[in-house]
Amino acid sequence: MKHRMPIRPKERFLVFGAPSIEDAEIQEVVASMKSGWLGTGPKVAQFELDFARYRRAPQAVAVNSCTAALHLGMLAENFGPGDEVITTPLTFCATVNAIIHAGATPVLADIDPRTMNIDPRQVEARVTSRTRAILPVHFAGRPCDMDALAAIALKHNLKVIEDCAHAIETEYHGRPAGTFGDYGCFSFYVTKNIITGEGGMVLAREESAAARIKVLALHGMTKDAWTRFSDAGYRHYEVVDAGFKYNMMDLQAAIGIHQLRRIEPYWNRRQEIWRQYNAAFAGLPIILPADPAPDTRHAYHLYTILIDIERTGISRDDFLEAMTAQNIGIGVHYRAIPEHPFYQRTFGWTPEQFPHAMRVGRQTVSLPLSPKLSPRDVEDVIAAVSRSLGVE
Ligand SMILES: Cc1ncc(COP(=O)(O)O)c(C=O)c1O
Repeated sequence: MKHRMPIRPKERFLVFGAPSIEDAEIQEVVASMKSGWLGTGPKVAQFELDFARYRRAPQAVAVNSCTAALHLGMLAENFGPGDEVITTPLTFCATVNAIIHAGATPVLADIDPRTMNIDPRQVEARVTSRTRAILPVHFAGRPCDMDALAAIALKHNLKVIEDCAHAIETEYHGRPAGTFGDYGCFSFYVTKNIITGEGGMVLAREESAAARIKVLALHGMTKDAWTRFSDAGYRHYEVVDAGFKYNMMDLQAAIGIHQLRRIEPYWNRRQEIWRQYNAAFAGLPIILPADPAPDTRHAYHLYTILIDIERTGISRDDFLEAMTAQNIGIGVHYRAIPEHPFYQRTFGWTPEQFPHAMRVGRQTVSLPLSPKLSPRDVEDVIAAVSRSLGVE
């Protein structure tokens, strides 16, 4: 490293994806704790209503992660052995694991290298008589080509389960992500656009499917604790399925309710940072994220740059180290799924079978993009990128 002094001192290490937590949710959590009701209760019910209204969806079921949401969406459709679900190789492992946990077989379709989203032509090529669903991921917050995917689903009578972990604010042709498919699955993990610590939400098109998911999310019981223990008197429950422990707590919903109210100012701030990065990096030998497509709303969840050693003279992994040495936290979203030994061993996948996801996964770096970033933080990231590339 040319420079001895990092851009920021160690004590001010810029944590990647640090959430913005404000007084309203702190007070709401304190109120929950003082009330003594920490588990699933009225605040979860309110968060479900608020979120369904926000996404203009008929109903929402809160769970404790997006992984749980994906899993339950597939269980509600009774997917199991022999069923195939087509998804993208450029995603978090949870997407693929949820398919496996539902008992189905994941099938990967490569991405479009520009949008980094699943390529509908690759999806079509992988449909077989066993295919039951398409599971698109709106990568980084950019909507997938839902017209093309919906047409494939219609043609082959497939379900659509949308992984909206990056896509809380995403819209495509005026319609919210998560409402195209039979299920829309969201994450409120700490690095996400709004957070509950751990947490997730399922939007379900059918009321009966939402009801089934609610039961499956709590042991397969017909009544939750709030219904059993409230002042209306004790109510017996029945177990109608071998369900899971996937329920969201009021403590988590207490955070989410207030985060959701601030979703627009947070989105505006991330858009502003995104534009600042675009302007600052325009002359650098890196590949910037594609602009949002017309008539869509990008959720600006991740700002990903590609480091191609042929152009930059520095490898992606050396760049990661250089950024960390400047005390800037960065992320990698993601090394392609077939890079991991479990999937290679289990499905015989190799990265080369999915060349676009492989290349992006080997070159990509996510820069901090959080509403918590101060103007000074953004300047530091910009300076650290230039310095790490050796151009100042
Ligand atoms: C694309 C994608 N899918 C699924 C998940 C899983 O979300 P959760 O951590 O809420 O289970 C994540 C979380 O990082 C994600 O990024």
